[in-house]
Amino acid sequence: MNYNEPLLWEKVNGITVGYSMPELSVVESFPQSKHQRGSISIPGFSEPVIARHFTKLSTWNYGVDTDIYPLGSCTMKYNPKINEKIATLNGFINSHPLQDDSYSQGVLEVLYQTGEALKEITGMDGVTLQPAAGAQGELVSLLMFKKYHRSRGDFKRDTILIPDSAHGTNPASASLCGFKVKVVKSNEEGILTSEIVKSCMDESIAGIMITNPGTLGIFESNIKEICDIIHDGGGLVYGDGANLNALLGVIKVGHVGIDAMHMNLHKTFSTPHGGGGPGAGPVCVKSHLIPFLPVPRVIKTSSGYKMDSNTPLTIGRVHSFNGNFSVILKAYAYILTMGGEGLKHVSEIAVLNANYIRQNLKDFYHLPYKKDSLHEVLFTDKIQKEYGISTLDIAKGMIERGIHPPTIYFPLVVSGALLIEPTENESLDSLNNLINILREIAELAKDSPELLLNAPNNSKRCRVDETRAAREPILRGYI
Ligand SMILES: Cc1ncc(COP(=O)(O)O)c(C=O)c1O
Repeated sequence: MNYNEPLLWEKVNGITVGYSMPELSVVESFPQSKHQRGSISIPGFSEPVIARHFTKLSTWNYGVDTDIYPLGSCTMKYNPKINEKIATLNGFINSHPLQDDSYSQGVLEVLYQTGEALKEITGMDGVTLQPAAGAQGELVSLLMFKKYHRSRGDFKRDTILIPDSAHGTNPASASLCGFKVKVVKSNEEGILTSEIVKSCMDESIAGIMITNPGTLGIFESNIKEICDIIHDGGGLVYGDGANLNALLGVIKVGHVGIDAMHMNLHKTFSTPHGGGGPGAGPVCVKSHLIPFLPVPRVIKTSSGYKMDSNTPLTIGRVHSFNGNFSVILKAYAYILTMGGEGLKHVSEIAVLNANYIRQNLKDFYHLPYKKDSLHEVLFTDKIQKEYGISTLDIAKGMIERGIHPPTIYFPLVVSGALLIEPTENESLDSLNNLINILREIAELAKDSPELLLNAPNNSKRCRVDETRAAREPILRGYI
């Protein structure tokens, strides 16, 4: 590349470098030439060139700090900067997990108090903060279910009930744990009924996994009856808490019969998703499952906080040290910033925002379920399909217009799904912008579908051939 090098730069061994080092106070030493296999041509650039390159790349990125990120089921909410500030306080970043408990009282207090807050929010009795993601929280819970049944001499329960609309991690966790999976069909309203669950219940059922509101964005209104049926049949109920953003301060799941539930701190509690991790998926349990929780756990004693492993029936350790501490700390900062009333307000606004979108788009996109939405709203491409426009084309049209598409083609039970979750963070302007863009796309689908079939044309990457990209990936190359 032929750059007209601006200052700052200097040449080291003939290569331009974008840094200046202090003078050496030791004898300069290079690897023996016999160890060198020849020169490799690493390009060198000056500091301004590097700074511009990465700054430019950062402007090509899209995130919650840029605009709406309405990924249904993912709760991509804004991560308040105060969380980051607190996570970098000296006392926290300089602590080491191998320090004696007596030197780690601040860290242990954060872990303990976060656990207490999550218990309060969910109405549960015990907690582990170790799991690094929702999916790991599911696995931990099912391992506890298994051990619970075994500890009671019940070895025949080898099956987990899972609704047809469940997130893929639910059956994956059940299988990983050695359970068989039996799919429970949701009804035409998009929810489970007592009758269907009853018909699936027998002595092989170890438990059920229920997401509430479900992945269709609809409240499982029969939850209490379903919990009773499962418990009467000797099973346990797992609550997938990925959608807790709809329920904060409104329902305590522990009061309706859930035995264990994970929460995604990287969703509901405003910590970074981090490209699949590191996140945190703490699990809260009712008292009968406390003996099976992972160890060690923080306990509060008269002489301070301690890590305790004295739990003979534990399923063991599932993460090194105390889980992803900085993620837990950020979530704790968020919980304290919001307070109880603030968290309730979060859910109220999240639900209001989703329903505002629903009302304003219901004449433009097909609503597969008539029941009210909670924090996310599900549409399909049924109307647009008539003009040859699919969910994928709608998503590409959104990219063309500068905003991130919602979750597409999930849940799998709905053909051409578009699952929109605006979260509580969006202003009226931002919601209206999304609505106007989706209305414009619905009009285009009718009048000029070819414009959508080619979209996007103005993004860094134009329409890619996704099948070819998967079959013949080019893993190296210039952007
Ligand atoms: C309903 C549901 N359950 C479980 C998960 C898994 O959570 P995680 O990505 O933290 O492993 C997700 C993730 O999107 C989800 O939407």
